[in-house]
Amino acid sequence: MARSKDETRKDGAVPVRRRQVLGGAAVVGASQALVGCNSETDEPLPPAPEVFLHGVASGDPLPDAVILWTRAEPKGGESSVEVTWTIATDPELTQTVDGGTVTTDASRDFTVKLDVAGLAAGTTHYYRFEALGESSPIGRTKTAPSGSVDRLRFVICSCASYAHGYYNAYRRIAERADLDLVIHLGDYIYEYGTNEYGDVRSHEPEHEILTLDDYRQRYGQYRRDADLQEAHRQHPFVNVWDDHESANDSWSGGAQNHTEGAEGTWADRTAAARQAYFEWLPIRDVADLTVQRTLRYGDLVDLIMLDTRLCCRDEVVDGFDDPDIDDPARSLLGMEQEQWLFDELSNSTAAWKLLGQQVMFGQLAQLNVDQWDGYPAARERVFAHLETNSIDDVVVLTGDIHTSWGMDLTRDPQDVMVYDPNTGSGSFAVEFVAPGISSPGFPPALAAVAEGLKMDNPHMKYVEVVSRGYVLLDIDATRIQGAWYHVDTVEERSDVEMLGGVLESARGTNYLVEVMQPADAPTADPPAP
Ligand SMILES: [Fe+2]
Repeated sequence: MARSKDETRKDGAVPVRRRQVLGGAAVVGASQALVGCNSETDEPLPPAPEVFLHGVASGDPLPDAVILWTRAEPKGGESSVEVTWTIATDPELTQTVDGGTVTTDASRDFTVKLDVAGLAAGTTHYYRFEALGESSPIGRTKTAPSGSVDRLRFVICSCASYAHGYYNAYRRIAERADLDLVIHLGDYIYEYGTNEYGDVRSHEPEHEILTLDDYRQRYGQYRRDADLQEAHRQHPFVNVWDDHESANDSWSGGAQNHTEGAEGTWADRTAAARQAYFEWLPIRDVADLTVQRTLRYGDLVDLIMLDTRLCCRDEVVDGFDDPDIDDPARSLLGMEQEQWLFDELSNSTAAWKLLGQQVMFGQLAQLNVDQWDGYPAARERVFAHLETNSIDDVVVLTGDIHTSWGMDLTRDPQDVMVYDPNTGSGSFAVEFVAPGISSPGFPPALAAVAEGLKMDNPHMKYVEVVSRGYVLLDIDATRIQGAWYHVDTVEERSDVEMLGGVLESARGTNYLVEVMQPADAPTADPPAP
């Protein structure tokens, strides 16, 4: 385990006591080792209840509904568990608005998912579960607003390799009191065995996950992490999967990290991966276990979530000199999902159209055929749709690549006749790319690569290739702003966070400009539970 013994942080501050708390906790049982601590006092919280050791979560907010999630561990070997739930508008749960009882069992790995309807729009709610004589932690969530919306604050994040270290970025997200939503763009788990990719923390099970039981165990391990649990407890999430929720560089018919036969069939493996994902994530259930969907935030944002992986992606080409790369039939979304996206974009009346998806849309100097660069005809069809239908204010949200980027989206960033980075002429949309929560980018020695890339690629308005963290989006009717926040380390618990950069796009301009200061947080924060 590569945890530093150095007692001095980079900022020279006295080391935080929470590290000692966690160090001491490592001797207790696995289910209790990852207890949180009170951020006011740094005193350890009571051990996580045995029944609700995976915490609580909420997601996919609608103006009148939200998904509530928990898991009830059958600690006495029960074959089924009855779970009572309560939702209210105050943290003490006295202003109750709904409640009830549901039963869960092994067929769904003892997870509980409710789609609670009849709620007030744009309203913070608090919720709790009870079962087998224990109570869950109280969670906080927020329904989507309806009608006229002044302002929204979203986090986008991705790529949380447990093996690479600690979820300091999830903890920073949890501590924010200014968020309407966390948009998780995938690589929520990684499929590798212990020490195959990252060696700070061991994986459960120790081997690469292949079966339904394997995938369930891996989600269970991730969700015992106190920082991830706290992020879910404090904010609603909208999730989509990337490749590692199944296997590295997945496409509709296979993956780089899948050997057909020796590792079972791809159909069986992805069926298991999809089932465990829908059991463990606070995503609204659909019969065909697909993740593409639209969530509407009043007249301000339509959030269109896409699947560029398991749904329909054609196999990646061997390289940029592979003649198949230009085949117009090749697709990342599949023709049906592509048409659905175009219809969603054409029909949207929201000020901003956010595309939550997995792989980088903008050009990356022909370095990676696993992103939209490897599917140029599919990318051109998106540009053509935006151009033909005069659709403005499309913002692509991306994870996958463990580095931080802000880009103008243009047909040819190198052709001065096509694109002008100073006026935005020739740019159809903008892209914010989130760094990993914990998954690694470039080694620190290569930090300067970013400056070289920016110099050679005028559409890259912000590049940082080393740090982990997340992006905070601040959205109103006049502009969308993205601020990159980076943590100092993942090799140990730390509470250091630094602002990396801020870009914004003014309404109707479709290009990014640098901003010196991020927008102030709104003043009326709902209390944390
Ligand atoms: Fe990743």
